[in-house]
Amino acid sequence: MYNGEKLDPKAFIAVQVKEIQEQVGDDVVILGLSGGVDSTVTAVLVNRAIGDRLQCIFVDHGLLRKNEFEDVLAYYEKMGLNVKGVRAADRFFAACKGITDPELKRKAIGKTFIDVFAEEARKVQNAKWLAQGTIWPDIAESHSDKGTIKSHHNVGGLPEDLKFGLVEPLKYLYKYEVREVGAELGLDSYILGRHPFPGPGLGVRCLGELTPEKIAILQEADKIWIDNLREAGLYDKVWQAAAIFVPVKTTGIADGRRTYDNVIALRAVNSIDAVTAQIVHLPWDFLDKVQDEIIAKVKGVNRVVYDISSKPGATIEWE
Ligand code: XMP
Repeated sequence: MYNGEKLDPKAFIAVQVKEIQEQVGDDVVILGLSGGVDSTVTAVLVNRAIGDRLQCIFVDHGLLRKNEFEDVLAYYEKMGLNVKGVRAADRFFAACKGITDPELKRKAIGKTFIDVFAEEARKVQNAKWLAQGTIWPDIAESHSDKGTIKSHHNVGGLPEDLKFGLVEPLKYLYKYEVREVGAELGLDSYILGRHPFPGPGLGVRCLGELTPEKIAILQEADKIWIDNLREAGLYDKVWQAAAIFVPVKTTGIADGRRTYDNVIALRAVNSIDAVTAQIVHLPWDFLDKVQDEIIAKVKGVNRVVYDISSKPGATIEWE
């Protein structure tokens, strides 16, 4: 915990359930799920306190990993959460049309997210509270005085008519403690063992203007990358892995003919808190297998590179 106390997950859950019940009474609470550890643990905890009076909203911005929306939605339903999946990819692509600047892109994605979320929130009767998966490093980081390096978005910027009270049961915990609470709540490694994934999703891993075609290419390459890490037993040894679509055309060769296609960059880093990160020294044979599979299977890609940059110097995400 932020104050140095050791966490007892069982006792923590009991105390939080009681506090949430007292805080919200008979009101309805809404929560935006992202597929990540923090929002999922928050949802299961609040659900334990007030059952179906927690209404979760899971927005598909079209920038999730391949099959992620369907898979995660099914998992949430299996966990007994009252969740509404909202498909809004077209709106996000429309909002990002013509934008190439990374910060403007982040802002466009963030604003569209808030618009979609607010529309859904307005439909929920009696909603007076917003539950969020804020954790201690989020609070600590937002007090940094060195200026914004990247704009992160959450649903903090909702319009005036949607002034909810906040329910943030994890706000004094570190990430590893959130995982302990999640395990005690019965969540498995499908959620708890996930690599961090940015709110704007593949939008910050697809350089330049976002189009459904580029994202589809990136989703295919990313799936090959992540599946290979899992199959080789490397996924859990890496803190975060990403594939990046680099819209730079280079010459290649396929079936004896010249090709002129895009680049995919692979990134795998180790970190403790995302403030610094070091590249993972993956075996060359493994990387060779992955490049082979990506170039053979993903149309539109004829070159794969491995990003060897540390943070700081570089950031983890490319945008
Ligand atoms: P950077 O790229 O700043 O990323 O080195 C540090 C960590 O933060 C994640 N990240 C985000 N997470 N919303 C999020 O929820 C965002 O907008 C966002 N941008 C970066 C990144 O994946 C890494 O784990």
